[in-house]
This record gives sequence, structure tokens and C-alpha cells, in this order.
Amino acid sequence: MYVEVCYTPELIHQFDLRGKSVVIIDVLRATSCMVAGMGSGVASIRPVASVEECRALGEQGYAMAGERNGQKVKGFDLGNSPLEYQEAKWLGKHIATTTTNGTRAIACADDAQEVVIASFLNLRAVVDYLSLQKQDVVLFCAGWKGKYNIEDSLCAGAIANGLSDMITHTTDATQAAIYLYQACETKLAEVIAQSDHAQRLSSFGIADDVTYCAQRNVFDVVPVLQNGELRPL
Ligand code: MLT
Repeated sequence: MYVEVCYTPELIHQFDLRGKSVVIIDVLRATSCMVAGMGSGVASIRPVASVEECRALGEQGYAMAGERNGQKVKGFDLGNSPLEYQEAKWLGKHIATTTTNGTRAIACADDAQEVVIASFLNLRAVVDYLSLQKQDVVLFCAGWKGKYNIEDSLCAGAIANGLSDMITHTTDATQAAIYLYQACETKLAEVIAQSDHAQRLSSFGIADDVTYCAQRNVFDVVPVLQNGELRPL
């Protein structure tokens, strides 16, 4: 199994995604929300790139979710908190979401054989799934507005580390992510709390989400994109 890491959407053009499992990672907070929602009984989540597309889906009956720059979009039903996605009122509901980086990364993965959603919350489930698939993997970090971020790189490293028995060849980017995770795995919450985006969220009073998203293996679910919608496998 060939496992590559792409650290930001700005670099994704350098990767050939055809025939590969592309794993989207946006720990703070888009993919953590998707995992928490799917793990809590949301029927489907439709990721879209723009606020306008999301509003149009709202008119078709979807609950509208999302943020810009970390803050809930005015008039939307939900923001981008994994805790909100677990509220009983979303059970069995269809949600459309747009976020600053996470849904953008998903939109860049069109050529993939399949698109899988990962976060620390479903780490083991994703590793188990990819191990069974035995397909080449691109771990695609959403980053922040084209820049590198540490929380997504840590999660990419955690997944690659979990797949190490299966990896036949790899890249420097993958090795760097593995070393980073191994150096930080016992102080994950602390390292993530110091990240740029955690600081940004804390300045909006959203520190609880940061602590929540640093937890490993809370959900067993693996959301996969099918016809434009995320559904649990
Ligand atoms: C994103 O997609 O950039 C994030 O999920 C931002 C956030 O924390 O809401």
C-alpha cells in the first residue's frame, strides 16, 4: 500500500488521486463534525463549497450548517461544532454544510476512487477500513486557507502510523507526519490546544470543541462520499 500525505489543498494538484482512497482530514472542525454527526444518527451530510449552494439546499429541506472563519453563518441552523451535530433534533435529518477549508478540500478530491472522512474521533475505524481496502491512500489535510496546520498533520500521522504494517512505500511527507504523531501522541490535546486555529476558536469562546476534537476513537463510523453526500459505510 502506497500512503502519501498532502498537507494543504494548494498542493493537491501534485497528486494523482485516480484509483486511490482520499482521506479528508479537518480536525478543527469540519471532519470532526461530520464524524460526530454520522456517529450520532444524522442521515446524510452534503458538503458544498459555497454559502449560496448551502442556502439553495436549505430551500430544498436540508438543515443548513457551516462557518466562515470559524463563526456560524448568519441564518444557518447549525454552526460547525461537533457537539451541536450530536443534538437529538438532527437524528435522521439531512444536513448541507459549507466550511472555510474542510468542504473545499472535499471539492478538490473529485478524481478520487473514493472519499473517506477522518478525524481523531474515528481514527481506529478509518485505519481498520483502509487496512481492509488495501488501496493506495492519499491523506489530504484541509489546512487553513492554503497553509499548513499541525492538527491535521498529526491526524494524518496517526492514520499512517496505524497503517505502518501495510505500507509498502511512502514519501518524506508521510514519514514526517508519522514522526510528528509519535513525538506528540501522549500530549495530543495539549499540542492541538496550542495550534493557530485552536487559539482562533478560543478567542471566539469555542475552546470546548478543541478539547472534544482531540479525543481518539469516540465513534466507530466511517463516512464516505456517495453521489455528493456523506453517509456512514
Ligand atoms: C474549516 O473547514 O475550515 C473548519 O472547520 C473551520 C472551523 O473550525 O469551523
